[in-house]
Amino acid sequence: MSNELYNVLARVTDGLYEGIAIGGDVYPGSTLSDHVLRLNNIPQIKLIVVLGELGGRDEYSLVEALKQGKVSKPVIAWVSGTCAKLFKSEVQFGHAGAKSGGDLESAQAKNKALEEAGAIVPTSFEGLEPAIKIAFQKLVEDGVILPTQEIVPPSVPEDLSSAIKSGKVRAPTHIVSTICDDRGEEPTYAGVAMSTIIEKDFGVGDVISLLWFKRSLPRYCTKFIEMCILLCADHGPCVSGAHNTIVTSRAGKDLVSCLVSGLLTIGPRFGGAIDDAARYFKDANDRKLSPYEFVESMKGKGIRVPGIGHRIKSRDNRDKRVELLQQYARSHFPSVKYMEYAVIVETYTLSKASNLVLNVDGCIGSLFLDLLASCAMFSQQEIDEIIEIGYLNGLFVLARSIGLIGHTFDQRRLKQPLYRHPWEDVLYSKYV
Ligand code: ACO
Repeated sequence: MSNELYNVLARVTDGLYEGIAIGGDVYPGSTLSDHVLRLNNIPQIKLIVVLGELGGRDEYSLVEALKQGKVSKPVIAWVSGTCAKLFKSEVQFGHAGAKSGGDLESAQAKNKALEEAGAIVPTSFEGLEPAIKIAFQKLVEDGVILPTQEIVPPSVPEDLSSAIKSGKVRAPTHIVSTICDDRGEEPTYAGVAMSTIIEKDFGVGDVISLLWFKRSLPRYCTKFIEMCILLCADHGPCVSGAHNTIVTSRAGKDLVSCLVSGLLTIGPRFGGAIDDAARYFKDANDRKLSPYEFVESMKGKGIRVPGIGHRIKSRDNRDKRVELLQQYARSHFPSVKYMEYAVIVETYTLSKASNLVLNVDGCIGSLFLDLLASCAMFSQQEIDEIIEIGYLNGLFVLARSIGLIGHTFDQRRLKQPLYRHPWEDVLYSKYV
């Protein structure tokens, strides 16, 4: 009702000084006459417009004030709800108080009383607008009101999201994303709905297949991915990543800091040689280099063969992870030619030193080449792109995060104090 009345006032006067909505509730905090008398004392206000409702007797306080001549400014009033008389029984209108309790509380009775007390009362709500217009113009003619100049309101720019929705504009996008869409009822991974992922019992390997490779790889491939994750999840507290995480946890840092400090050690020497192993093994195999030519050419360039060598594993102390992955691939992959190439490279490097074994990075790197080349789901261009971008270290990063988080919790559980490396374990020397 307030909005409607302000709209009427905006159309036929030069503006509204103050609008207040009172009543409507059974126990309002102030009365109509309180406000009309207050507004009557404000010099800038020249005309008072009242919109009442059937029910209650508040308008009679205004009737009394008018009768007693307490209101010097013209009052235009209309009490809505005249239609209540058309109903046979009592009707509850919108507000708690808007209920015609008896004849005196009817809209008709209140309009009549207001008119008799001197208010300008139209014959219907529709009559309110012309009544206000006439009264306003009269006050202008009498010089009581000097109309203020109409200001053209600044136009509000169209809301971008509604303009896009209605197809009127096309906003430039700042991010392109092709792996996941969360705009529908449920998010999708490469077009596969989350409910499907659950219904079809997808595993982590399937989700990696969707989010990294943007396709559903066959189960033997996703199982291989899962094996890589399981087997690389941890390798004891002494390796670079776990050591860093343990030291950070003992320094009282939060989980993410502990995890990140461990992850930051992953690189060409520790866990991050999978991509390079895949690159070099692929190149050497595709160029049909003999192991001798390959290893010696790398030596000539001063580059260690990625995927070869281990700190503790050796010819007589084989890495179980490598054996398990090789066994699985030999019995499930259509072809393991890259892995076999890596194995003959290993035979050659082992002839040089017993710790120059095919390590887990080299095993995963070469087997992933086999997976990509033999599952018939990737074009040559896509394989080159995967190797070029370097997806495969992601497997180690993801896997090892599991272990690093475990080490963080382990240190906390054990309430381990701040770590300090023992002096006796450091060679203090001026001559190195
Ligand atoms: N290719 C060729 N020669 C090698 C290689 C290699 N990959 N690794 C070691 N050697 C040689 C060294 O040149 C060295 O010979 P030199 O003294 O005549 O120069 C000798 O073997 C011993 O080297 P070390 O540095 O003592 O070997 P270390 O045991 O410290 O290194 C490491 C282990 C870091 C893994 C090393 O073998 C390497 O850099 N490999 C390539 C990177 C790699 O595959 N990293 C992943 C490891 S697996 C994992 O982290 C999960």
